[in-house]
Amino acid sequence: MSKICVIGTGYVGLVTGTCFAELGNQVTCLDTDPARINGLLQGQMPIYEPGLEQLVEQNVQAKRLHFTQDYRSALEGAEYAFIAVGTPSGVDGEADLQYVKAAAESIADIVDFPILVINKSTVPVGTGDWVADVIRRRRGDRSLEFSVVSNPEFLREGSAINDFMSPDRVVLGSEDRKAATRLAELYKPLRCTIMVTDLRTAEMIKYASNAFLATRISFINEIGNMCEDLGADVREVAQGMGLDKRIGPSFLDAGLGWGGSCFPKDVKALEHMAVLHGTQPQLLQAVMEINRNQRRRAVMKLRKALGTLNEKTIGILGISFKPNTDDIRDSAALEIIHLLINEGAHIQAYDPQAMDNASKVLKNVKLCESPYEVADSADALLLATEWNEFKQIDFVKIKQLLRNPVILDGRNLWDSELLKSMGFTYMGIGRAIN
Ligand SMILES: NC(=O)c1ccc[n+]([C@@H]2O[C@H](COP(=O)([O-])OP(=O)(O)OC[C@H]3O[C@@H](n4cnc5c(N)ncnc54)[C@H](O)[C@@H]3O)[C@@H](O)[C@H]2O)c1
Repeated sequence: MSKICVIGTGYVGLVTGTCFAELGNQVTCLDTDPARINGLLQGQMPIYEPGLEQLVEQNVQAKRLHFTQDYRSALEGAEYAFIAVGTPSGVDGEADLQYVKAAAESIADIVDFPILVINKSTVPVGTGDWVADVIRRRRGDRSLEFSVVSNPEFLREGSAINDFMSPDRVVLGSEDRKAATRLAELYKPLRCTIMVTDLRTAEMIKYASNAFLATRISFINEIGNMCEDLGADVREVAQGMGLDKRIGPSFLDAGLGWGGSCFPKDVKALEHMAVLHGTQPQLLQAVMEINRNQRRRAVMKLRKALGTLNEKTIGILGISFKPNTDDIRDSAALEIIHLLINEGAHIQAYDPQAMDNASKVLKNVKLCESPYEVADSADALLLATEWNEFKQIDFVKIKQLLRNPVILDGRNLWDSELLKSMGFTYMGIGRAIN
């Protein structure tokens, strides 16, 4: 049993802390957001993540998992301090490290015993060294025995617990190999591959992984756009490609492009790092441009189908950046909604889990309680997120409710032949436009 402090209780911090508690450790999760901690103390989840609420409850009851706003009590006796705070995009696309700095300074102010400081936040290459400097500078003459380890997180929202408990790999980077080996002990119960590298390599593995996944999606979207013009079907093209073991099937779904809390900011941050250090990141720039274009292309399809978007009502199904999460950061739906509003459209939208988050950022949008309310008197329906709930929708009812039977299936979820036979004007992604 180890004593762990996790700083930040977002998607990464809360899952990390809860899973380490589940593995038998004593964990205190700390956040500076009082609403978050007060909610957690009353058993309310600040995020939607399947299975998390139950796991939190079990570990709180077992007295292995604790929540606080107070750094001093969170760090008391901790052998490991995980930094899992946000690293959003700064003004020029660089990662904003203010929260990481604040966490590192708080550790420096409080801790007076040997500690491992672990960067779980996604941070630019070199940040591990910088965090060590921040701590040293803050300490001044008061020496502290500590090491910094980079331990990038690869979990996916929507399957975060399983991803944490059964990871493809755990990456640990440090200049202090002993520290990395000590941290490896925490992960031993997971019986997974643990890769130990130097600090900067570990930090780069995270960025390179996200950039590569985003590249695959932009690649298949570009192929999909060609399929539309050339009369091929991108779904079968992707299947045919994915059967090649050198390529594999994942991240080859053509759609409205990638979004979420990680890919957009991480690809931008990597581009920023490259430019800053004199490399021209041509591929990354194209990957981002293709993604922006994929949103515009969806709007163009709707405009073409309706003649104009001005004063038209567009129903949007799904607001989260992918199914099984309430996270709407940089979601395709949000960007498309803004583009549609700019062209004078009225929007009505629904998401199974993201309505609270949506209501905070979507002004001038009618937030609905069901897919049918979204379809009611709309001129077209756009499927933006492929939630299970939308798979078995009653299209007879949808057709009666829509003003025009126009559907843009942004995730290729539905049966195009069926919908066409029902009299819908159906548009998918990456399939011949007729
Ligand atoms: N969300 C993901 O799927 C995912 C996956 C892998 C890596 N990451 C990375 O992990 C990091 C965290 O992401 P997230 O999605 O969990 O973020 P988040 O925004 O959901 O949560 C961050 C939390 O940190 C808290 N915080 C900010 N400053 C603090 C401080 N000084 N002390 C204590 N708490 C503080 C905030 O109040 C917030 O609750 C980011 O760097 C992200 O890129 C995220």
